[in-house]
Amino acid sequence: MSTAIRLAVFASGQGTNAISILNHLASMNREPQNPKVKLEFIFSDNPTAPVLEKAKAHKVQTYAVAKVSTKQAHELAILRALRKHQIDWICLAGYMRILSADFLNQFKAWHEGRSQVVNIHPSLLPLYPGIESIERAFQDQVSESGVTLHYVDEGVDTGKVIYQEKVRRENLDTLGDFKQRIHIQEYEVYKKFLNCLAAHQIETAYFKEV
Ligand code: GRF
Repeated sequence: MSTAIRLAVFASGQGTNAISILNHLASMNREPQNPKVKLEFIFSDNPTAPVLEKAKAHKVQTYAVAKVSTKQAHELAILRALRKHQIDWICLAGYMRILSADFLNQFKAWHEGRSQVVNIHPSLLPLYPGIESIERAFQDQVSESGVTLHYVDEGVDTGKVIYQEKVRRENLDTLGDFKQRIHIQEYEVYKKFLNCLAAHQIETAYFKEV
């Protein structure tokens, strides 16, 4: 029996990526008693985020911690949950906060100094970082945009790229059409990443208390 890779997904809103990840893991783990990659919990910084209800409906554990005081206090609460569940990888999926260097360094310290936090972003980074990336690309009438999965550093969508997939903007596309195709590509990119994790094509340093 191999050790399951333990994931936490962070989301702030609808969570369609989070639910796609959840469904993909369910279909990947043919032997539910011996999963290769296990979703331990979904975290939200927004206690009223729709993603939380959706996760509960799928019987996935959730944590919601609103930022009521300092960023440090908020992140310490999150780190406690990560430590309790011995999380190996964090997948950001529509998480609307920037993680601090202190947070990322603590998480690295539990994983042999490796960065095991990834984010999905709806553009071909370094183009259109930050918010409303799809809207801005559409307004610029780009012929293509896409999706980037990248490691997370303390910048805004600046970490090392893992995968990028292009999405064409067709002449007759409405913003809604373009958004929809980009979102579908996001789900595919996360699936590819999870498959690689499960196959150990991307190496995991398992959680270890230091
Ligand atoms: C996604 O497009 C993600 O890339 C971006 O925010 C959106 C979240 O969508 N950062 P959802 O909550 O997964 O539906």
